[in-house]
Amino acid sequence: MLSKRMEEAINDQIQREFESAYIYLSMAAYFDSINLPGFAHWMKIQFQEEQAHALKFYEFVYDRGGKVVLKPLGQPPVEFQSPVDAFEQTMAHERRITGHINDLYALAIEEKDFASQSFLQWFVEEQVEEEKNASDILEMLKRVGDHYHTLLMIDRELAQRPAPAETQADTASE
Ligand code: FEO
Repeated sequence: MLSKRMEEAINDQIQREFESAYIYLSMAAYFDSINLPGFAHWMKIQFQEEQAHALKFYEFVYDRGGKVVLKPLGQPPVEFQSPVDAFEQTMAHERRITGHINDLYALAIEEKDFASQSFLQWFVEEQVEEEKNASDILEMLKRVGDHYHTLLMIDRELAQRPAPAETQADTASE
């Protein structure tokens, strides 16, 4: 059984995951508006991943006898100065999310909630991946500078990002 504190903390995290999805969909809209469909595709996949994260937490709350309470989502950012700006915001956002996952893990340790610790381990590892993905693209973009041709090459590469089938399969099987 989830403690009330852990239940509330996870409900807050469900809200953050949906807010993350909303932010990345807003970034997808920005990239579509400047005709970079590969970047927009990458952000739409990110949008799907964040919803899968939210659902993973959702299922866990019910698996542990808790109650999901959905909260309102804030207005996502809508103005971006450049692709670099969007990925700098992505990087900063993922670092904040990592901090929240770490806080959840610390709470699970404090409460001697071993099932939550085990569950959260997946998210600890996922955040390493999330930060690395954003950081790799940000570094590439910084090197590209004003070379539009290279930007289009990156756009074509990002268009290949596969759908998060594994994450969805994990969620579906739980
Ligand atoms: Fe759900 Fe991007 O972390």
